[in-house]
Formats: sequence, structure tokens, C-alpha cells
Amino acid sequence: MRDLEANLQYEYMDKVRGYVKQQEEQIGRPLTFYVKTFGCQMNARDSEKLVGILENIGYVEGEDEHADFVVYNTCTVRENANNKVYGRLGYLQNYKKKNPIMKIALCGCMMQEPEVVENIRKHYKFVDIVFGTHNIFKFAEILCNNFESGSQVIDIWKDTDQIVEDLPIKRKFSFKSGVNIMFGCNNFCSYCIVPYVRGRERSREPKDIIREIEGLVADGVCEIMLLGQNVNSYGKNLDEPISFAQLLREVNKIEGLKRIRFMTSHPKDLSDELILAMKECDKVCKHLHLPLQSGSSRILKIMNRSYDKEKYLDEVKRLREQIPDIALTTDIIVGFPGETEEDFLETMDVVKKVRYDSAFTFIYSKRTGTRAASMSDQVPEDVIKDRFDRLLKEVQTISAEKAEQYEGKVMPVLAEEMDDQKDGYVTGRLDNNSIVHFPGDSSMIGNIYNVRLDECKGFYYMGELADA
Ligand code: SAH
Ligand code: SF4
Ligand code: F3S
Repeated sequence: MRDLEANLQYEYMDKVRGYVKQQEEQIGRPLTFYVKTFGCQMNARDSEKLVGILENIGYVEGEDEHADFVVYNTCTVRENANNKVYGRLGYLQNYKKKNPIMKIALCGCMMQEPEVVENIRKHYKFVDIVFGTHNIFKFAEILCNNFESGSQVIDIWKDTDQIVEDLPIKRKFSFKSGVNIMFGCNNFCSYCIVPYVRGRERSREPKDIIREIEGLVADGVCEIMLLGQNVNSYGKNLDEPISFAQLLREVNKIEGLKRIRFMTSHPKDLSDELILAMKECDKVCKHLHLPLQSGSSRILKIMNRSYDKEKYLDEVKRLREQIPDIALTTDIIVGFPGETEEDFLETMDVVKKVRYDSAFTFIYSKRTGTRAASMSDQVPEDVIKDRFDRLLKEVQTISAEKAEQYEGKVMPVLAEEMDDQKDGYVTGRLDNNSIVHFPGDSSMIGNIYNVRLDECKGFYYMGELADA
């Protein structure tokens, strides 16, 4: 049974479909859309929801921004994510001059910042639709308002506790899919804007999650990624509380599903229960993304991360005791306000001790409204650059060494798609997310094979079927 809100949105879709058809008849060809996603996996999943609705109302997918309807699903986690969007809006204005029926929509995290919306209202009048992260389920309704009024529609909510199930979704990949298990974040790490733009933590009901995954599997999906800003706090506020570890065990039972991944696990509350569930659930990939942010306990405290260097290293030890070959990846920020050379060396120390399979390194970016933005001792750019380069070098050297240790080994690879570089080859992934190219054909996609990793080429491998 669909809920009332979903029913309402389907009614709007019916209505907009009529408007789309009218325009199609006027111009004598189908209307096209192009959705460009910035940012993380959550945004990628949200974009699949937007595409689901766009296809439902009769738009067909175009190739680029020359489409009749361009949607930018934005990210604002760092200033450069934000700047990219403004940069591209200039091009869109020119395209629109040549195509008067063109519509432009902006949505996603950046739109939850009042000053951004003000700027668009004042200086980007050619943008037709602006909405945020909390009312994305109202996309059809907002679009309908725009068709009917013919003028700019801006609709931003401050927050919501609503989760609307059962709206159309169009997956980007046939064999894998993200699955939201929770929305929002309550952690307020002092550098981070996400809690301000994604609102408070809300978990989906386990039965809705399981039903969605069963549907996906029936539709050919063999790998899912459970998505949340901190999956470790999943389920705590549900009427019938359930832990993330319990959810994993339930998902692991779903027949036909082959691989389970998840993002992101916060080190402040990585439980033994979760480690054990990861170990015992055969479908759960032996890979953990465990964002460090900084190795300095002093900085971690100011970041409001609720763990220190020792606790983090202890978690890594507990993980490796239970799952010795687990792949570990991380996120690190360089140049947080007040970071000294000593603090930075603590980060380098953790990197050397943990030896990550890979790490995303970020230069600290000041985000308006966060606590860190008003901290006085911002680190000079040249100092940050120097530290960033040293960190990157260390991280890359270790990654390469870790990757090389698998050369010659036979490992399970999920065949994901035909190789677009080399005929007669398929591209797949190891448990730890590394890419492997090996000879094969399209009948193999969605299955797991034992592949010998003949040659490590940095961040990917060339291999061949082990039992061929
Ligand atoms: N919820 C996840 C992270 C989501 S944001 C977690 O807690 O781990 C993804 C990454 O962006 C973060 O891990 C952090 O490393 C980086 N990030 C967030 N805010 C940032 C900022 N202001 N400057 C630089 N990097 C930032
Ligand atoms: Fe941002 Fe921290 Fe929440 Fe992650 S846990 S989204 S870094 S506030
Ligand atoms: Fe960016 Fe929003 Fe994700 S700010 S990182 S798209 S939650």
C-alpha cells in the first residue's frame, strides 16, 4: 500500500505528463532531460529518484546539458563543490537562450543554504526551479507548479521528519544499487555542513528496507550499498529499535543477493556486535570505510568526533583480530583550524600504523555556519599545501604496496560490466572495491568468479579466470 503522500505525488505525475505531452506535440519531438549529480552516494541515489520521476512523466534521457530539462543535484560539503555549480550555470544560461522551452532545476545540499538561494533569486533569474533535500519527494508537485505558473518556483524546507516510500526510481546500474537506510546526521562535527543541509537523523523501517532490496534483487541487482551518514546509529530512534548489526544480518539472508556494502561507519561507535556481524555474514564485503579525519586526539576533540587516536587504533586492532584480511579505507582532512605540525605528524603516524588500502584526502574547507568557520587560527594555505602533499605521497605509497601484495593471488571478483577499453574483457571488482579487468563475456555479468590477479597496475588489476 502506498502512503497518502506517494499517492498525491503520482497524481501530480499524471498531470505533468499531460503538460509534457502538449509541449512535445508543439515542438514535434520528445522532450529530453539531463541530471548532473555532484557529491556523495546519497546524492547519487537521490538523482535516481529524480530520474525515476522524469521518465515516469515522459521525458527521455538526453546526453548532456543541451537537454530540454537540466537538473543539477548539488553538493556543498566543500567550497569547490559549490563553485563548480556556479561555474556551470553560466553555460546553462546560454543554452537556454537558444532553447526557450528549456527548464533548469537546482536541488540538493547547496540549496539548503539560505544565502545560496538568495543569490539565485537575485542573480540567476533564468533558473526555473529550486528545491532542497527535505522535499525532494515533491519533485513532481513542484514541477507541476512551474508548468502551471510559468514562473520561477523556489521551495525549500528547513527540515522534515517525513520519509516517503514507493516513488519511482531509475537505477544507473543494472547490477548494483544504493539503498538509503537513514537520512540526515546528528553528529555536528565542527567542520561539517552536512547536518545543516540534511537535517536530523531518521531511520527507515527495516521492513521497508528489506522489501526494497528484495525488489531490487528480483530486478537483477546483486550488490547493494546501504547508505547513511553514520550507519552505526541506524535504528536507534525507531519505535522498535534495531541495531545496524541486526539489520545487516537480516539483509544477509536475502536470497539472490551477492554482495553487501555500507557507508559510512563512524569510529565513535563501531561496536563488537557490528564487527562480528561483518565477520559472520558471508555477503558482507570485508571492507570498512572508517573516516579518521585527523590522527591528533587534540584536533579530534575540537572536531567533535568523540574518539581519540588510541580508540581509533584500538578499533582497527579489534577489526583485524576478527577479520585479518579486511580492507580499510578512510577520509582525512588536512589544515583544520589550529592544526600544528605535531598534530599533522600524529595523522601521518596513524596512516603509517593502519596502512590503509586507500584514503581520500581533503584540504579543510571553511563552511559558513559551522563551528570551525569562526575559529580564529586558520592554517595558512602554503602550510596546508605542504602537509597535503606529504600526506598524499605517504597514502599513495602505502596503497600501491598494499595493492601489490595481491598480485598473483586468486580472489573473488564480481563481474560488473563489459570493459569499454578492451574487447572480450569484463570489468569487475574485488571485495575491497578494487577494479579488475579479465577476459569474459556479457553472460558473466552479475556473477562472482575466482580470478588470478596477474598484474597490478596501480589502482586496477589485469587478471584471468583461475579455473579456466
Ligand atoms: N558522514 C561521513 C562523512 C560525510 S562527508 C563521516 O562522518 O565520516 C565526506 C567527507 O568529507 C568527510 O569524511 C570529511 O573527510 C570531508 N569533509 C567534510 N566536511 C569537510 C570540510 N569542511 N572540509 C574538508 N573536508 C570535509
Ligand atoms: Fe559530517 Fe560528521 Fe555527520 Fe559525517 S558524521 S556527515 S562528518 S557531521
Ligand atoms: Fe555533499 Fe550533501 Fe553528500 S553536502 S557530500 S551531497 S550529503
